[in-house]
Amino acid sequence: MLPQKTRAEIARLRAEIRDHDRRYYVEDDPVISDTEYDQLMRRLQALEAEYPEAVAPDSPTQRVGGSAVSDFKPARHAAAMLSLDNVYAEDELREWHTRLLKNLPPGEKPAFVLEPKIDGLSCALSYEDGRLARAATRGDGETGEDVTANARAIRSIPLALSGARPPSRLEVRGEVYMAFADFEKVNADEVRAGREAFVNPRNCAAGSLRQKDPAVTAQRRLRFLAHSFGVWEGGEPVTSETGFLRACAALGLQPVQHDEAGSIEEVIRFYHDFKQNRLSGLAFAVDGIVVKVDSYAQQKRLGFTAKSPRWAVAFKYPAQQASTVVEKVEFSVGRTGVITPVAKVKPVFCAGVTISSVTLHNFQEIERLGLMEGDHVLIERAGEVIPKVVKVDPDQRPASAKPVKPPKACPACGGKVIKEEEFVAFRCDNPACPAQLKRLLLHFASRPALDMQGLGEAVVDQLVDSGRVHDVSGLYDLKKEDLLKLELFADKRAENLLAQIAQSKHRPLDRLINGLGIRQVGEKTAETLAQLYDLEGLAAASAEELTRIPEVGPIVAASIHGYFHSPQARKLLDRLKEAGLNFRKSEKKAASAKFAGQTFVFTGELETMTREAAEEKVKALGGKASGSVSAKTAYVVAGADPGSKLRKANELGVKVLSEKEFLDLL
Ligand code: IVH
Repeated sequence: MLPQKTRAEIARLRAEIRDHDRRYYVEDDPVISDTEYDQLMRRLQALEAEYPEAVAPDSPTQRVGGSAVSDFKPARHAAAMLSLDNVYAEDELREWHTRLLKNLPPGEKPAFVLEPKIDGLSCALSYEDGRLARAATRGDGETGEDVTANARAIRSIPLALSGARPPSRLEVRGEVYMAFADFEKVNADEVRAGREAFVNPRNCAAGSLRQKDPAVTAQRRLRFLAHSFGVWEGGEPVTSETGFLRACAALGLQPVQHDEAGSIEEVIRFYHDFKQNRLSGLAFAVDGIVVKVDSYAQQKRLGFTAKSPRWAVAFKYPAQQASTVVEKVEFSVGRTGVITPVAKVKPVFCAGVTISSVTLHNFQEIERLGLMEGDHVLIERAGEVIPKVVKVDPDQRPASAKPVKPPKACPACGGKVIKEEEFVAFRCDNPACPAQLKRLLLHFASRPALDMQGLGEAVVDQLVDSGRVHDVSGLYDLKKEDLLKLELFADKRAENLLAQIAQSKHRPLDRLINGLGIRQVGEKTAETLAQLYDLEGLAAASAEELTRIPEVGPIVAASIHGYFHSPQARKLLDRLKEAGLNFRKSEKKAASAKFAGQTFVFTGELETMTREAAEEKVKALGGKASGSVSAKTAYVVAGADPGSKLRKANELGVKVLSEKEFLDLL
């Protein structure tokens, strides 16, 4: 029996992991380190292993990577783009090495290649007969986004390979990144143009690679460094990583810099020396070194685990830490009203930046740390992740230290503060709270939502503080005279913003659903919903009906239902309709969404096609393919020699199709 407390913990972990997935994969704006993410995932896996009845097909444990953003065509990789295992300490690296030796014939000593681990975005470039045919982001490892037009605008990506005998088919992989100096320039331009600055080079590189206009990508000065390949056919064969990197240079591709080591002790010496003497001189962000076995023959013998190669590992540099004092804890109000405690600390230099403010995430975190105002704390910053408090030093606590209490009233509007049982956060319950409205407007206007350039923080502050905009629909009532009365606007800028607002009316429905800022509804869910409903239909759907959508669990369904049943939302919808926003179901996808909302599971061998091809067909028609059967599975397709999935389908009463019936359905 699944105890109520565990059920709640599982729901909370899933919601939290999904949120972090979204931040990492979609927004490129992670707020926790990989280690912390792994801890959340491991806890969820442990609970699901203990209570198998709690496993759901939509649990984050049931997939490998993150979700791809939908604006670009999907690009399936010829071979899965796996990730590297991480180690953080010498002992862990030695353990990796011991496992490695066990998997090689006795006495065989591998030579290692050492490369910086570039903190960019992985990208796979496919060359057919020497010409750049496609560029794709990693996506979930199986399918990424087709970013060919933008990759063509990156100067370090050759459009044609050079050399006497290039491979006839090559899928080379590497990192797209932005050098620190270019990042500074792009940000200065963004701020001058009245847009928000990017948080870090990785984020900026991601935004630039996913530009709709390749001319913008070209201006952003992205670069590409090759570090591996998925396909190499024809041409001069390569037999080692060092050989591959050399060959890259001959083909006109820029390879990542590398060093070599003959033993694991040498690798460890290199790791420290690189950090001490070379890291700070690099023009781009690096968060560790990658250690690879050089020989491909040995790599082949070592093989892969489910997620990563055994022949390579990332030896990460630990987060940099610094001590400081918490002067005050302030509260910031997010767009959904969540109140986040933020520690204002005595400014301290850490990992290349001066830090004066550190998020504490929520009140549970304050309790866990035992933090009081006035405390001496250790903070850390890992890679480009936002800084956090690691621990409090109770021995240095001054007599004047003050406990941190959740605010009784919203710090922005004085509204009532509530705490919902299943969430750890406190929230301001006033839908008219100006702080919430400001955040919501920024979200509404952001790139993945209604994409209105020129609606940055300063403009939003003025629109709300001057009382001109009371909810997101107010943007559509703005007139040029209104804007000209605000300090920030002259003719041109006002016209540009109004044009952007007008254009936003025609965006597809998923962008609008995402823009509404419904709690628990991110881009991916918005996309699914827009394919199934028009906005009026969604607003009328019952929570029970919504729960039948595979990606939508009870928490998400309750949140959507609750949102549309508030009087404010009703009024807002009416006003948005009047303004002429697009409420229509996403037509393009709906046409090919015959299987939308339906999950297929394949078992046994199919005669007429491979399982991958069958799964592709399901996905092309808007369906989902999963590896495990649950009550939410629409069909199990049974080929020859079906396995335990068929038994499970029969137990659960899930419809079973023969291959022929499946083909008929297609
Ligand atoms: S080799 C099986 N070499 O780190 C993966 N990857 O988690 C083989 N990365 O997404 C990748 N620098 O894009 C390799 N010198 C390097 C790298 C590197 C950064 C990225 C890579 C991948 C992630 C691994």
